[in-house]
Amino acid sequence: MRNFNFDTATRILFGKGKVNEMTPEILASGSRILLAYGGGSIKKIGLYDKVVELLNANDIFFVELSGIQPNPRISSVREGVELCRKHKLDFILAVGGGSVLDCCKAIAAGVPYQGDPWDFMMMKATVQEPLPIGTILTLAATGSEMNGNAVISNEETLEKRAMGSQLLRPVFSVLDPTYTFTVDKWNTAAGVTDIMSHIFELYFTPEKGTHVQDMLAEGLLKTCIHYGPILLEQPNNYEARANIMWASTLALNGLLAAGKIPGDWATHGIEHELSAIYDITHGAGLAIVHPAWMEYVLDENNAWKFAQLARNVWGVKDEVDMSAARKGIAAVKQFFSSLGMPVSLKEADIDDLHLTEMGKKACLFGSIGLMKKLNPEDVTAILTSAI
Ligand code: NZQ
Ligand code: ZN
Repeated sequence: MRNFNFDTATRILFGKGKVNEMTPEILASGSRILLAYGGGSIKKIGLYDKVVELLNANDIFFVELSGIQPNPRISSVREGVELCRKHKLDFILAVGGGSVLDCCKAIAAGVPYQGDPWDFMMMKATVQEPLPIGTILTLAATGSEMNGNAVISNEETLEKRAMGSQLLRPVFSVLDPTYTFTVDKWNTAAGVTDIMSHIFELYFTPEKGTHVQDMLAEGLLKTCIHYGPILLEQPNNYEARANIMWASTLALNGLLAAGKIPGDWATHGIEHELSAIYDITHGAGLAIVHPAWMEYVLDENNAWKFAQLARNVWGVKDEVDMSAARKGIAAVKQFFSSLGMPVSLKEADIDDLHLTEMGKKACLFGSIGLMKKLNPEDVTAILTSAI
């Protein structure tokens, strides 16, 4: 196991009614806030009214930024930066799913930065002294509630790129599973897929001797496999929503990466190209790419790891690593499909016109992946195998 420092930074307020503990957390960091949300789901579930009531009761000044879209746009980031500067805001409260949270992180970084916030996504700028942010999560998927990452889309250049900094970890996150009761089947399934994909990204590294991390990862995967299908039938099942919500957070808060090379991440890189061009839901794109990536990178040297996953998570009994590995990959694909996710480009109505372009764009900053280093031709081959 490698040396590591583990620091989570975010205070988690988990459970029903925990929003009532939020205002002291805000006031510890700021008093003039940007209240940011998406297309209106927080109004439908009564959360908007509750938040406004709490802010007013504590004389906290706020300005609103609404309409943040899934696959959040750089234009929303620019709008948020302007609002923060104009009203001299010193704290951002993000209420929604990963898209709202990510947009707010980019705004937080953009306020003190003199250039265009897209520079962060192009690695032309580093985050310095961002505004502090707090979150109220309404969709379990990304882990954005406890990490320093943000993924932003540029609608002009059809690019979707990530930025990251430990400084962007939220100071607090309210995780109340009841807020996720209204998430529809599609976004629930996409969320479960995204959580599993994060675990796969961190699980599949070429090193040995990371038993703790592997067992944690396998336990979280089993949690998704157990509760995911239950949620599709029982959206108001608190136990299932709570377990999936906490799994989402633990999958990408640094815990599984500590002591390891921090993940493969080729699948996410490839999926971002699908989202950038076709505006597909992130989890749905991952359901297509992840099994195709697994089939492509599997070889004699790494079959043991795929076989370990197959045996420990999917209960595959095969003693031959390569055939056990293949059965495990088939089980992943079958599970995503059973959740109602597409597992081929065709099922998502995606044509084959941009496969070469996506290969090039995915490798803009060099080859991607760890289990196998992928160049543009490899990425195009993976996408072609997913047609
Ligand atoms: O906009 P509203 O009206 O809120 O509706 C949203 C949106 O349409 C809706 N929704 C959210 N909470 C709801 C709800 N509907 C009913 N009831 C609720 N309680 O769900 C739709 C999707 O929301 P979105 O925030 O886009 O979903 P998600 O949380 O899956 O976020 C996806 C984004 O996060 C990025 C993805 O690339 C994508 O852009 N990621 C962020 C990561 C990170 N920061 O660490 C890592 C991930 O790998 C991922 O790349
Ligand atoms: Zn993801």
